[in-house]
Amino acid sequence: MAGNPPIIYLNNAATTWPKPPEVLEAVRQSLALPVFGSGRTTGSQGEDYITLAREALASLLAADPPEHVVFTQNATDSLNLLIQGFLAGKEAGCHVITTALDHNSVLRPLYELERQHCIRLTVLPVEDGAVSPESVEAAITPDTRLMVTAHGSNVLGSVQDISRIGEVLHDHGVFFIVDGAQTAGHIPINLRKLPADAYVFTGHKGLFGIPGTGGFYLQDPESVAPVRYGGTGTDSFLLTHPRGMPERFESGTHNYPGLAALAAGVSYVASVGVTAIMEKAERQTALFIRELKEEPNITVYNASPSLPIVSFNIRGMENDDVGFILARAYGVVARTGLHCAPLVHRAIDGGKGSVRLSLSWLTTDEECRIAARAVREIAQNADSSVGSP
Ligand SMILES: Cc1ncc(COP(=O)(O)O)c(C=O)c1O
Repeated sequence: MAGNPPIIYLNNAATTWPKPPEVLEAVRQSLALPVFGSGRTTGSQGEDYITLAREALASLLAADPPEHVVFTQNATDSLNLLIQGFLAGKEAGCHVITTALDHNSVLRPLYELERQHCIRLTVLPVEDGAVSPESVEAAITPDTRLMVTAHGSNVLGSVQDISRIGEVLHDHGVFFIVDGAQTAGHIPINLRKLPADAYVFTGHKGLFGIPGTGGFYLQDPESVAPVRYGGTGTDSFLLTHPRGMPERFESGTHNYPGLAALAAGVSYVASVGVTAIMEKAERQTALFIRELKEEPNITVYNASPSLPIVSFNIRGMENDDVGFILARAYGVVARTGLHCAPLVHRAIDGGKGSVRLSLSWLTTDEECRIAARAVREIAQNADSSVGSP
């Protein structure tokens, strides 16, 4: 009996797999010894994984000082904390800007606040995978307080001109939260130079950590009110929450195994070099897209992405059927549907969704070739006289 084909995992924009061996080993080691935690234990042989992870991230992202790097459960958690904490105390009904490119982890917190009449929301349209700094400037009103948007798109793999957008916003005194879930570990980030007030990252994608980790860098801690309180292992006589960093935003027991993994993942990324990661991704993705474009009934929605993401449909087929065949017949793991970014799909495919293949540094050229061949075969066998892509 023929066995299943070996897995070719191309869903790295959701979460990277496989993880480098040192990441798995870090998780094992973190649980093999009693953990070190300042203020919470009198001594142990274990590492201080939290500080290791904080310093590794601060170095990778040029985030200064390291204490302004805060750990949370994931990018979604970070966005909620930042959005709610920034808007706490602002006038009800103030104006906030986001974009149609954004993920539900940005859109839903903002739409929920709009539903509660806390904010007035503008969602900017996307052209060529990004919003223009000019359209941002045109949307600003005297009561605009905040803009939140993705650095990189999880559907189109495009990267927005965050520097120019940030300059425009700062000229008008607007606070800027950047969702870097798709860019950290994929493209060089220098937070000393980027005009972002807060930059959000997730641990389990390009940084090669495990799920359940993420965080943010916040330039001015006073600009965002804490919205969660509890034990920090510091200033325990204080019955109100400590205001120093990073305790201001971190309470309760940390996800030590997750942060051990994140420290190892970030060190791995730093040892390879983000530029090398980006160049390989650009080469492999361009090759992939060139292959798919050979088939007239494949519609590729992102001709030249900066991130290793390919979004497409096959004329005459539903995207989830394509995903099913890719997995069952070829062992290629994709993601299909809306990818939690409904508004960008409304713009590119009428809201139908797409098949998304996403690579990581650990994806081989051979895997790309096999997967591209598989998609082409499916397209060649599709009845393209049925429906539209
Ligand atoms: C652009 C973008 N923002 C936010 C998220 C949410 O990330 P997390 O799973 O870490 O909450 C994702 C993940 O899919 C994403 O692609």
